[in-house]
Amino acid sequence: MRTDVAIIGAGPAGLLLAHLLAQDGVESIVIEARTKEYVAARIRAGILESSSVDLLRSVGVGAGVDAGGEEHRGIYLQWPSERHHLDFVDLVGRSVWVYGQTQLQADLVAAGEAAGQQAYYGTSDAALHDLETDRPYVTFTDSDGAAQRVDAAAIAGCDGAFGPSRAAMPADQQESWERVYPFSWLGILADVAPSTDELIYAWHPDGFALHSMRSATVSRLYLQVPNGTDVADWSDERIWGALATRLGHGQNGWQLNPGPITEKSVLPMRSFVQSPMRHGRLFLAGDAAHTVPPTGAKGLNLAIADVALLAPALGALVHKNDTAAADAYSSTALRRVWRCEHFSWWMTSMLHLSGDPFDAQLQLSQLRWVTSSTAGAAGLAENYAGLPIGF
Ligand code: FAD
Ligand code: DHB
Repeated sequence: MRTDVAIIGAGPAGLLLAHLLAQDGVESIVIEARTKEYVAARIRAGILESSSVDLLRSVGVGAGVDAGGEEHRGIYLQWPSERHHLDFVDLVGRSVWVYGQTQLQADLVAAGEAAGQQAYYGTSDAALHDLETDRPYVTFTDSDGAAQRVDAAAIAGCDGAFGPSRAAMPADQQESWERVYPFSWLGILADVAPSTDELIYAWHPDGFALHSMRSATVSRLYLQVPNGTDVADWSDERIWGALATRLGHGQNGWQLNPGPITEKSVLPMRSFVQSPMRHGRLFLAGDAAHTVPPTGAKGLNLAIADVALLAPALGALVHKNDTAAADAYSSTALRRVWRCEHFSWWMTSMLHLSGDPFDAQLQLSQLRWVTSSTAGAAGLAENYAGLPIGF
């Protein structure tokens, strides 16, 4: 097969890129390892920045967010006996949206199907070739076991942290940075109305807890747990008990309403950046190039911001053989990547128990400052609600 851009990975980065390219008259073929059903069912991120929502709306895939998303003015930050609301709209004039990655994924699949987007699901053995030429290609085995080859003008590596694209970057021409955190998140999805109108990020001597949500009837909650935690050790009762303690059930009349847990998993926490995000005709986007710890909800938004930059760069490359934007892609994208890396690390460091009592006092001091100083609150709000695309 021959196309303009071969896209490896049908997560939000790959599918949104295919959509943006199609709008610009650039053809692409998406190659995904998992089945369509598996990709559709994955439970992941839940918060969209206003710049992500603006972009989705401006390219015709915002109807789902408008119909099913919930706009939030800010978040609550709390520690034992104190809860403070940060109003991002008052602070920086921007809001955020609760809209599950699962829903966004479904919107992007529907848009692709309506536009006749070519996509191969359930593939294996994807491999990248001739990246240093202007005729790179991808080989893979399709779901029927047939060998396939896609020739393209460029390859977009949108295949997450463990895909073949990052691995195809030559080791002697790249740099990477990594931080592994000494704790994980135990995440649950529960069929119960959220006990809060906006998200609660809670510092607690037992460890961090987060009350998020997916809709008026579905809650998403997280607990800081030690690395290596086995979900089997956490009964539903133990989870709700720990959440009640850490989120302050009973304080000032606030109640946490438990309900049936429909999903439970442990997520390790890591920061990672790969640089450059380009080698020859291979361009990395989203988790293929970087990982952030989830605190602050940047992963999905960063994937969206990457492809918003990459799509016009690939359009200019394919249509006009104009390499200027493609050449600038990595350094432009990495500016925002490092801002989000810093913010995610900072939120993580402020809210998770490290076990060191000195750290705990610093965290409480930081929380008091962020919730009482307009300058402190505005810094958090500006980063959480998201800097403009292209920052
Ligand atoms: P992905 O969504 O990972 O998509 C990559 C795609 O490439 C996948 O569909 C994968 O199957 C495919 N692929 C991989 N290998 C191959 C191959 N060999 N051949 C073909 N295709 C391949 N962020 C938050 O902000 N909040 C959260 O609560 C949150 N929770 C998360 C939970 C989990 C378990 C994970 C993994 C991530 C979570 N994230 C969260 C991060 C966020 O979901 C990601 O940043 C986002 O999905 C990035 O989108 P992406 O398209 O770059 O990568
Ligand atoms: C969610 C995840 C986050 O990491 C976060 O900071 C806020 C919300 C969520 O899954 O809903």
